[in-house]
Amino acid sequence: MQNKTTLLSNMELIDMDKKHLWHHITNHSKFQHEDPQIIVEGKGCIIKDIHGKEYIDASSGGVWAVNVGYGRKTIADSVSEQLVKLGFFAPTVGNPASIRLAQKVISILPDFQKVFYSNTGSEANEKAFKMVRQYFRLKYKNKDKYKIVSRLRDYHGSTFAALSATGQPERKLGFEPLVPGFLEMSPCYCYRCPYNKKYPDCNIDCALELENIIKKEGEDTVGAIIVEPITSGGGILVPPKEYFKVLQEICDKYEVLMMMDEVVNGFGRTGKMFGHYHFDVKPDIVTIAKGFTSGYVPLSAFVAKQFLFDQFITDEADKMGYFRDISTFPGSAAMSAGALENINIIERENLVENSEKMGNYLLSNMKEFESFEIVGEVRGKGLLIGIEFVEDKKTKLPAKETIISEIITEINKQGVLVGKMTRSMINQNNVIFIAPPLIITKEEADKIIASIRIAIEKANTM
Ligand SMILES: Cc1ncc(COP(=O)(O)O)c(C=O)c1O
Repeated sequence: MQNKTTLLSNMELIDMDKKHLWHHITNHSKFQHEDPQIIVEGKGCIIKDIHGKEYIDASSGGVWAVNVGYGRKTIADSVSEQLVKLGFFAPTVGNPASIRLAQKVISILPDFQKVFYSNTGSEANEKAFKMVRQYFRLKYKNKDKYKIVSRLRDYHGSTFAALSATGQPERKLGFEPLVPGFLEMSPCYCYRCPYNKKYPDCNIDCALELENIIKKEGEDTVGAIIVEPITSGGGILVPPKEYFKVLQEICDKYEVLMMMDEVVNGFGRTGKMFGHYHFDVKPDIVTIAKGFTSGYVPLSAFVAKQFLFDQFITDEADKMGYFRDISTFPGSAAMSAGALENINIIERENLVENSEKMGNYLLSNMKEFESFEIVGEVRGKGLLIGIEFVEDKKTKLPAKETIISEIITEINKQGVLVGKMTRSMINQNNVIFIAPPLIITKEEADKIIASIRIAIEKANTM
C-alpha cells in the first residue's frame, strides 16, 4: 500500500509532467482525459509504473532497446567509475574505454575495421551518409555517386537525412522539403507483395527493382543502398533467404555500397548477434545503436570497412580530404565503458542463444493465433516478432486503429507491455510487436502469450 505522502507526490509528478514535459511522438490531447504513464523502476524484464503496477516489458523500453534487461548494476558501476576517472574529452582523440570498445565491436563484426561513434541511431545513419558521399567525391572526379536508395517501410531515423531515407510517408508529413538525393524502393513484404506475386515463384522482383532504379537514375549517380536486415518499425518484415544475395549482386555490379541498419536488429535481437548474419550478404557499412548499450547510455556508431577509411587518408596538406565530421559527446569514456559492459553481459550470459531459443518458442506458440480471423500473419525472427491484424483474412484490409488500441489496452490490463507501429497508410497501426529483453524466461514468455491470446479472443468476437 502506498502512503498518503507518496500518493500526493505522484499526483504532483503527473501534474508537472502534463505542464512541462513534451513527450516524443505523442498527441497530448489525450492527457485531457487520461494521465500520462510514468515508469519508475525496472528489474530484469519487469517494469513498475508510478502507481506500483508491474508489467512484463515485451517492448524492451518501448523502442526495442533494453536487450540485457533492467537494473544492471555492473553497467552502472562501469559508467560511474569512468565518469569519476575521466568526465569528458572530445572524440577527436581516443580514451582507453572508447579504444577497447572499438576493438570489441570489431571482434563481433570481424569483416570490418573502423568504428565511428555518434549518439543516436539517426545520427549513426546521418554520419554514414555523409561519409559515403564524401568517399565517392574523393574517389572520382568525373562522376558523382551521391544518391542513396532506401526501401519503403524501413525506418532510419528522425534527423533530416535519416528521415529522407525513411520509407514511412506518415513520418515525413509536415517536415518537407527533405534532403535531395534519396530514392525510394519497394519493400520486401511477402504478406502484401508489392508485385502481387507469391514467394518462391516471384523471382525476388522486389530486390531486382534496385537494378531498374540504378539504370534509370544513372549508375554514375547512385552510391549506396541502406536497408534493415529485418524491417522492424515498418511491420517486422523478414525477407526470404535469397533476397540479400540478389541485392548484393546488383550492388557489386554497379559499385553501390551496402549499408546495413542494425540499430534494432543488432546485438542479439533476432537470435544472431547481427540481423544480417541470417543472410548471404556482406555489407560495407553497419550502423548500431539501441542494443549497443541497451539504453543505459546514449551511444551509437557506424562501422566501416578498411577500404572506405583508406580513401580518407590524404596528403597532410590536404585541408578537405579527411572525414570532416564531429559531434561533441560520442565515445566519451563513460558511455564507452557502459556499452562495453553491455556487450560483455550479452556474451557472458549467452543472450543471443536465449534470444533464438525463446524467440522460436514465442513464435511457434503465437503462430497459432493465425487461426483467428483478425490475425493476418504472425512473423519474425528471434525476439523480434510482429502480429499483423486485419479486418478479415480474405480482404486483408488493415484492422482499424480502434481494434488495435483495444487489443493493446487488454494486453496491458493483463500486465504485459507490447509495442505498436505504423503500416504503409497514414495512421494505419495494424501491427503490434513483441520484443522483450533477451533474458526472457519461459514463464514470462508464457505470460506474454496468454495475455495476447485473451486480448485477441475478445477482439475477434467483437
Ligand atoms: C532501424 C532504425 N534505425 C534508426 C533508428 C533511429 O534511432 P534513434 O531513435 O536512436 O535516432 C531507429 C529508431 O527507432 C530504428 O528503428
